[in-house]
Amino acid sequence: MRSLQLLFRASTGLLLVLCLQLGTIKTQEDTTRRAVIMNVDMPSRTRVNQEVSVKLNIETELTECLVCKAYLRSNVTMDGPFNYRFTVCVCKDAPRTLYWDFQVDKTMGIAVVVDTVRELGICPDDMAVIPIKANRYYYTTSLVVQ
Ligand SMILES: *[C@@H]1O[C@H](CO)[C@@H](O)[C@H](O)[C@H]1NC(C)=O
Repeated sequence: MRSLQLLFRASTGLLLVLCLQLGTIKTQEDTTRRAVIMNVDMPSRTRVNQEVSVKLNIETELTECLVCKAYLRSNVTMDGPFNYRFTVCVCKDAPRTLYWDFQVDKTMGIAVVVDTVRELGICPDDMAVIPIKANRYYYTTSLVVQ
């Protein structure tokens, strides 16, 4: 009888530990959910006056949607489609892919930037959030003209 009681106590203890561990795993998952995930596809080298295409894919792991403003920056002055700014709604089951096509005549540093903004009329019913940790995400690289 006594040993049974001990066994019972031991197993409830074990169960408690197990529950606590499950709880910890759950919270860790919640905090590592990423607000903005950027995937950039572009060449690192090109030739003078050859068309360059930058492809940006924006995803979110949040259950809420985000209004994202995406644009390119460079350390040389550019005109034309390079300066195009896109404002799109990004949701968990609706990632977005954006393209910029332009020509370059000299080697430059490029930043692909995504700002999460508060703008009406972009997401359905304006149901969107702004992450409080960071609202600018970027990817920097260089484009070498041979
Ligand atoms: C811009 O940056 C690239 C590399 O990031 C560099 O090679 C180039 O010289 C820079 N151009 C100017 C005008 O600063």
